[in-house]
Amino acid sequence: MPAAIRFSPLSRALGARVSGIDLSRPLPQTDYEKVHAAWMRFGILLFRDQAVTPEQHVAFAQRFGELMVYTRSENAHSTFPELLVLSNVVDNGKPIGAAISGRYWHTDGHFLDSPPAGSLLHGKEVPPEGGDTFFASMTAAYDALSPRLRARIDALRIVIDRVQTLRYHYPERAAPPANQKDKWPDKVQPLVRTHPVTGRKALYLGGLVPWRIVGLPVSRSEPLMKALQRVALNPRFQYRHHWRAGDAILWDNRCVIHRATDYDMARFRRMMVRATIAGDAAY
Ligand code: SIN
Repeated sequence: MPAAIRFSPLSRALGARVSGIDLSRPLPQTDYEKVHAAWMRFGILLFRDQAVTPEQHVAFAQRFGELMVYTRSENAHSTFPELLVLSNVVDNGKPIGAAISGRYWHTDGHFLDSPPAGSLLHGKEVPPEGGDTFFASMTAAYDALSPRLRARIDALRIVIDRVQTLRYHYPERAAPPANQKDKWPDKVQPLVRTHPVTGRKALYLGGLVPWRIVGLPVSRSEPLMKALQRVALNPRFQYRHHWRAGDAILWDNRCVIHRATDYDMARFRRMMVRATIAGDAAY
């Protein structure tokens, strides 16, 4: 008899560990419905001790929506381009994926017309120390705001300037060339996002970039953004995951932000594979 599916919370704000699911096997409809409902409730789901081929990874993730080839296509898996390889491993002198993945708070594809709905990240090889991933619930952060502040920000929109973002996220790199704006034009996004499935509202402000609020002068936009970011990044809305090889995490990109952490890349190997689930325009 297959094991019963169980969900055990990982932290107060978000996350649950799922037992009784094998990602390498087809997911029956009734199990899918339980897992999907838990994903909507907890924001992130952890599956331990999973061994999947790229094909099985794709097949499991596809149950939660159509997959997309993420923007960093140079790091895509050679046979399954919808899988993104995040790794410091070098094979025959060639990096097998992106060595540095987002080490700053972010929501994936904030700068896209249709940002991803979520991702399924599988840890194949993980360092014994470091290389953790933080997740934070933007639904919990929104709920923590006063009713007055919520009413004030509910209809606001922010300008996502990807070129500006690169300067904040990678300060050590040279400034991006001016023509980057042609490739990545500014994108206006709601500051508060309504989840298309649960109907719950969440802060949709990505990480620590001082985004400009449409229609407000910088003198009012900047302090408001800073105040909201302080709430959003309060540790009480976070879960920190220390990876074990075989862990897989499914996160809901519409209401959870995340960031990777450093590890000793000279001593340890880290190999993560991510399937990105396509989403809709934020509203
Ligand atoms: C990501 O930002 O998609 C990956 C996070 C990680 O490598 O821990």
